Amino acid sequence: MSKFPKNFLWGGAVAANQWEGAFLEDGKGWSTADTALFEENPDKVNISLLQPMTTEKVEFAMKDTEGIYPKRFGIDAYHHYKEDIALFAEMGFKTFRLSISWPRIFPNGDDREPNEAGLAFYDSLFDECLKYGIEPLVTISHYEFPLALSLKQNGWESRETVDAFVRYAKVLFKRYQGKVKYWLTFNEINIIGMTGYLSGGLLADKTDNMLQAQYQAAHHQFIASALTVKACHEMLPDAQIGCMLARQEAYPETSNPLDVMESVEADHTNLFYSDVQIRGYYPRYMEKFFRDHQIEIKKEAGDDEILRQGVVDFMSFSYYMSSIASHEKSGEETAGNLLGSKKNPYLAASDWGWQIDPVGLRITLHKLYDRYQIPLFIVENGLGAKDVVTEDGKIHDDYRIDYLRDHINEMAKAIDEGVELMGYTPWGCIDLISASTSEMAKRYGFIYVDQDDKGNGSLDRLRKDSFYWYKEVIATSGENLA
Ligand code: BG6
Repeated sequence: MSKFPKNFLWGGAVAANQWEGAFLEDGKGWSTADTALFEENPDKVNISLLQPMTTEKVEFAMKDTEGIYPKRFGIDAYHHYKEDIALFAEMGFKTFRLSISWPRIFPNGDDREPNEAGLAFYDSLFDECLKYGIEPLVTISHYEFPLALSLKQNGWESRETVDAFVRYAKVLFKRYQGKVKYWLTFNEINIIGMTGYLSGGLLADKTDNMLQAQYQAAHHQFIASALTVKACHEMLPDAQIGCMLARQEAYPETSNPLDVMESVEADHTNLFYSDVQIRGYYPRYMEKFFRDHQIEIKKEAGDDEILRQGVVDFMSFSYYMSSIASHEKSGEETAGNLLGSKKNPYLAASDWGWQIDPVGLRITLHKLYDRYQIPLFIVENGLGAKDVVTEDGKIHDDYRIDYLRDHINEMAKAIDEGVELMGYTPWGCIDLISASTSEMAKRYGFIYVDQDDKGNGSLDRLRKDSFYWYKEVIATSGENLA
């Protein structure tokens, strides 16, 4: 008997900036993603995304005619979405997670009127999903912040960005009521604590203290998220809205209590964000962190109440790997989803050094459910790997099937053990541009896209072996994983 509930939301996930392309088309404005330059042999540990961005670098990218900026072309889904959604439907998707590009709706982030062509595009996209019975799961902000608001008001450091975001979200709720039932506010909201530009649109030359700006930006995102949740509940009583965290499960390196304490602290750093969005207030453990780093969060009167009133309905998260927490800082490092880690001798790693740990997913499901007692949703998981197309046009990606099978097995066990899990949308269900390295070579999909790192290729979509495998998984509700 399948452990997965009947209404389990099987599907896949993408983000506008990595999937759509159609840069500046039909009135779209610049987004932070459009300035991500492709570099040959990108460093897999200290990825350039973690380097501070400046006005000068932004202006250079906007004028540059030589460099390659893959997030501008994505996999051209803006012109291929019908074909892509038909393939998702063929696999039996119940849901499709996508994001809306804020600058496609408001080209400068805070324009007087929304861009009708942008709104119409998503109307048609949602209609296409619904035609096949696929529920859209929409991330309102996924690393595609309007660049104009970075240049004008240093992105999320400014309180005014809260108003711009909430207005944008309300436009979406009004327009897509009846079409979209599942919403997420900010993708991987904790990334703002690691790097300012990617989701916060922060520019280093516009602040004296980047860490202070990052946490101020986080506060503004919390407020924006809470106000958006409240608006969603008022405007769309049948919808559900969740938070989204890049979960970093960090094991103590040894049984040395100092390592265990490091792991507790790693959880604090990671779960601070979901603690605020799910509990509705700042956790006390952050007070010391703010003191130690001379961070002072500017709050307005009423903010505490806004946070209390804007708690989310469910928790979604990405999970790719686990990491190691250790008080001993030396040792062999390996790469990870923005954060690297020490190597875990019990785990294999992907071609990009991310440590593969299916049991870690079950551990994390239990930890999160024990802590929050609200439904969970795994909205990203998967293996970034290099795929080879055989002469007869096949892609034998058994390594991806192994990865996914092992993770789904652990999900089934967690459900059996009492965890409430709403759904599973593996990342990059169709190959797309990598968020961290802007490569095309790092592929996650069930569907292969004929395009290289520089944007050459026919853009043909090919079914990989994993396509047929996942189709069977969905058809049998996770029963047949062979
Ligand atoms: C998550 C992001 O961090 O990981 C996605 O939400 C991203 O946008 C995914 O693509 C995988 O990371 P990468 O760097 O391999 O594309």
